Amino acid sequence: MQRNNLKNILAQARKPNRFAVMSKKVFKRLFDYSGKHTQQENLTWLQRSCSSFEDLAYQLDAELWKEAQQNAKELEQHAAIVLESVEFDLGGGGGYPILYFITRYLQPTTIVETGVAAGFSSYALLSAIDVNRKGSLYSSDFPYFRLPEPERYIGFVVKESLKKFWNLYLEGDEINLPRILQKVNEIDLFHYDSDKSYSGREFAIATLKPHMSDTGIVLMDDIQDNSYFYDYVDRENPKSWYVFEYQGKYIGMLGALDKLNEE
Ligand SMILES: C[S@@+](CC[C@H](N)C(=O)[O-])C[C@H]1O[C@@H](n2cnc3c(N)ncnc32)[C@H](O)[C@@H]1O
Repeated sequence: MQRNNLKNILAQARKPNRFAVMSKKVFKRLFDYSGKHTQQENLTWLQRSCSSFEDLAYQLDAELWKEAQQNAKELEQHAAIVLESVEFDLGGGGGYPILYFITRYLQPTTIVETGVAAGFSSYALLSAIDVNRKGSLYSSDFPYFRLPEPERYIGFVVKESLKKFWNLYLEGDEINLPRILQKVNEIDLFHYDSDKSYSGREFAIATLKPHMSDTGIVLMDDIQDNSYFYDYVDRENPKSWYVFEYQGKYIGMLGALDKLNEE
């Protein structure tokens, strides 16, 4: 391990609440349950279940999908400029055009997301809230502990003008999500993109699902990592669920966008 990495890790570990979360993350990486299905069974199921978000979006509102793509282009151009000053790789974003489209389409009042990093998903959600003139975003993150002063970089690409719609929590999902629940009534949209372990996903869904509105949508990134989403669909048999492929990864969705599919 590089000397600077170790120094940054020790600096983070000394902050209140950080050490417990950091140790859990390391433990989970080594020993976490990976689900009822093997990696290959999960992948085969995802490939079989996968449909195109773009086709769905075109069918629902083609103009709005174009607007989402335009927003994604603006975000990428803006991020390329602001991230030039950062010497570390903060990682790219998830399915931000999908998030923008869903937020514009559903006009949600309360959005919760886990996993902010540089803030691509937060930017997309917040700019859609801005255009809607309605809604707030509650985000949960935990600083990357290998970086110096990692808090500085969380949401780095989010424009100042969008932060008035934003409530950011930085103590890790286990602490943040119960705190967020104290602030919100019903959740209309939940985007999960933080701790990719099985138990991390299990905790977040068990914590937030009872607080989702009747028409609420859950999106979960990187569902190829373990069979959490597959197991959830098997066990709970939800009325509407989807798997989308996005840039070589898979996103799971619980709930329906197409009002024709709703009872
Ligand atoms: C893939 S990145 C998120 C990317 C972001 N959604 C975007 O579109 O730019 C994952 C983030 O989740 C954070 N994270 C990891 N474990 C976490 C935990 N237990 N609680 C909260 N955040 C966590 C990481 O520090 C990182 O910032």
